[in-house]
Amino acid sequence: MKKNNLVIAIDGYSSCGKSTLAKALAKKLHFIYIDTGAMYRAVTLYFLRNHVGLEDHAAIAKALEDIHLNFHTEDFQTFIHLNDEDVSKEIRQMEVSQNVSEVSSIREVRHAMVKQQQRMGRSRNLVMDGRDIGTTVFPEAQIKFFMTADPKVRAERRFIELTEKGEQVTMEEIFDNIAHRDFLDTTREESPLTRAEDAVILDNTALTEDEQLQFALTRITPLLEAVSSK
Ligand code: C5P
Repeated sequence: MKKNNLVIAIDGYSSCGKSTLAKALAKKLHFIYIDTGAMYRAVTLYFLRNHVGLEDHAAIAKALEDIHLNFHTEDFQTFIHLNDEDVSKEIRQMEVSQNVSEVSSIREVRHAMVKQQQRMGRSRNLVMDGRDIGTTVFPEAQIKFFMTADPKVRAERRFIELTEKGEQVTMEEIFDNIAHRDFLDTTREESPLTRAEDAVILDNTALTEDEQLQFALTRITPLLEAVSSK
């Protein structure tokens, strides 16, 4: 990380509104937004399409060489491209959600993604959200948030989001998927989801999006002033 660039790390459980807050901060502060969950989802989509076995280390290594991920931003919206194909919609489908935590627990997958994420943040102001940003990707990030919310509220929010997009899902399926991903994400061997000691906890169960933004800005603004006066 360059000395005078600022990294805002946002970690937390599944469907806690990390990306909503991250996007709002990026827009407000003119920072780049990197959704690391989208990267793991795109890798999962590639594995599903190409029938890459999760125990087949040679196939995994080959797949990781063949996977090229890029983010594109348009009107403050971010799209992820997998080998030049925009897969932003497809990676949100239930089949990907059901497999992503297994794929993202594979050591080689994590190493490849973390390396790419660190490269992205070397010299730019950015907001990055995920599960291990404040602990593994950027342990030296100047500001870290750890987001959490009541599991029922999280499932309801995700249900509304997916049904609005036309996905046929039940509340039960979503609730189970969130619980399953949280379990795998917190118990995996390689960089499990855990709160960095210096992360500020943000429980947004009863907060509006604007209240969350204000909460975060109150903590970020003094740092921005300090960086810009260097
Ligand atoms: O953020 P999102 O819910 O889209 O992430 C999908 C999955 O990707 C998570 O459930 C987790 O298994 C994995 N992930 C991860 N590390 C990150 C970001 C996401 O393991 N930094």
